[in-house]
Amino acid sequence: MLRSCLITLQLIVSVLVFGQGTVPGPKLIPQPVSMQPGAGTYTLPNAVSIDLSDQVPGLITISEQLSERIKSTTGFNTSIVRNMPNAVIRLQLNKQADASLGKEGYLLEVNDRGIRISANEAAGIFYGLQTMWQLFPPEIESKTVVKNMSWKIPHVNIKDHPRVAWRGLMLDVARHFFTKQQVKDFIDNMVKYKYNRLHLHLTDDQGWRIEIKSLPKLTEVGAFRAERTGRWGEFKKQQPGEKSNYGGFYTHEDIRELVAYANARFVTILPEIDIPGHSLAMIAAYPELVCTPGKYQVSVGDRFMIWPGNGKFYGILDNNLCPANEKVYEVLDKVFTEVAQLFPYEYIHMGGDETYKGFWEKSAAIKALMKKENLKDQHEVQSYFVKRVGKIIESKGKKMMGWDEIMEGGLASGAAVMSWQGEKGGIEAAKMKHPVVMSPNTFTYVDLYQGDPLAEPPTYGMVRLSKSYSFNPIPPGVDSGYILGGQANLWSERLHTVRHAEYMLWPRGWAIAEAVWSPLAVKDWKSFVDRTEAHFTRSDFAGTNYSRSMYDPIVNVKKVKDSTIEVSLSSEVEGINIHYSFDEFEPDTFYPVYKTPLQFPAGASNLKLVSYRDGKQVGKRITLPLADLRKRAR
Ligand code: ACM
Repeated sequence: MLRSCLITLQLIVSVLVFGQGTVPGPKLIPQPVSMQPGAGTYTLPNAVSIDLSDQVPGLITISEQLSERIKSTTGFNTSIVRNMPNAVIRLQLNKQADASLGKEGYLLEVNDRGIRISANEAAGIFYGLQTMWQLFPPEIESKTVVKNMSWKIPHVNIKDHPRVAWRGLMLDVARHFFTKQQVKDFIDNMVKYKYNRLHLHLTDDQGWRIEIKSLPKLTEVGAFRAERTGRWGEFKKQQPGEKSNYGGFYTHEDIRELVAYANARFVTILPEIDIPGHSLAMIAAYPELVCTPGKYQVSVGDRFMIWPGNGKFYGILDNNLCPANEKVYEVLDKVFTEVAQLFPYEYIHMGGDETYKGFWEKSAAIKALMKKENLKDQHEVQSYFVKRVGKIIESKGKKMMGWDEIMEGGLASGAAVMSWQGEKGGIEAAKMKHPVVMSPNTFTYVDLYQGDPLAEPPTYGMVRLSKSYSFNPIPPGVDSGYILGGQANLWSERLHTVRHAEYMLWPRGWAIAEAVWSPLAVKDWKSFVDRTEAHFTRSDFAGTNYSRSMYDPIVNVKKVKDSTIEVSLSSEVEGINIHYSFDEFEPDTFYPVYKTPLQFPAGASNLKLVSYRDGKQVGKRITLPLADLRKRAR
């Protein structure tokens, strides 16, 4: 009773502290479970001692990372010590576990004596340090030494632990290849926000990115294609004789290095081999694995599927493995043998999404398989395939996970489901008592538009920052015991560079980090916006890109009559003035502020918009051509 009263009191305090928009004091993402700011500050001395209560290996690694990080931005001396009660930073494992903290929770205390972090396990200390880092001035994010800084940190008491155990980010390294170093940098950025699962989408139509020693052609052929720049989906196919000059893959050695790097930062890597669809790179290497005989090549990003909308799609080219071919299962056995040896994680993801079944329908081998196995439709053919893959994965001592399409035609026993087509599949799978990771495209697809399509790099769909922020990994009415957690997915069809990838990921990645870490009671959109702005500054010092699209106008167009349209503007963020012009000059603060819906004056062909706050430009300069807006109104 006393315990529950204390928890209630703590929640009330938290809500009082956080539930009212702009919060004075530390601007943390994700917001901790509870935080009591103090009055003073502590200044880091130029000799920083880090005291370890125990010599457990995880803690030693953490303290070495911390020591390097402090040296490289402050230039201060650091030392790792034992039994020094007046050390600057004290990292302490609890002698007796504090059940309320779990495996990843921590207590962080900053006072005149210095900084103390305690936890049940090394992971908790690691997350406490990420929070501590965010308490320092933004310059601490610099990659080089910042001179003449007073490294002040506010007095505070924080108690914190995650809402869900699986806090994932997916990186698609198949459509565009990201080097080993770029993946390490990605890990560094994700752990700042307490993500702990890196899902690597290792194979797709545009590339096979993992060495399989027993099947060398997978990378010799499948890892390379002709380079294309420009608009995805409109590229010219690779021409006969054209060099495959783009691509890459991770060797076994690279994978071991990445797994160790991730492990030292409490990140588990989930490997995905996407089958039976999305398999052109594999089929280009071993064309005997497809039901439709022909010549195949790794896709350069040319169109071979048609997506008319409503989640429907039609294949122009067969990019599926053939479930009726025994050779397919022999090859997959080899693939999963090596994948299972390389990745220590208990799960292997087998994709299973977006399999166009039209080619299977026409295949004599599939018809024979259906007769033999008594399969009544193509969903059951897919389910037959998934279940056989499940057996292969289990034979390697691993559990299978797949996208929610693996439920079609009957879900394999024990399979975990990653719900991407909204939340429906995840809710159903949890009701069927299967483990679920929620990554609904409606909230967590961070490759989709985050602002008006006329002002953003081309993609499809729309997930604004506020929508990502409203993501709840545990849908109401679902037994949370079956929800492993939540995940943001960064597909890379259109992302050629790290700068573009970062622009899509942040700040939506912060919003989702808070969704999977912070209790619902401390979440608050206004406060998040305020903290996001502080993290823009931190990212500037870190050299990490991000999007400021939350300031840009939300444009709604309505047809009034004939070709006349009416444009309404709003904003995700409060306190924004949208200045507009219909002439050919960029609006500044002397131009009118949007108040009521606008109609184009005769002769005007563009509406130009810029968001300002307190007289300062915060949004992009946006030009909306009348012709485009008319199309939208239709
Ligand atoms: C997916 O987005 N096709 C999983």
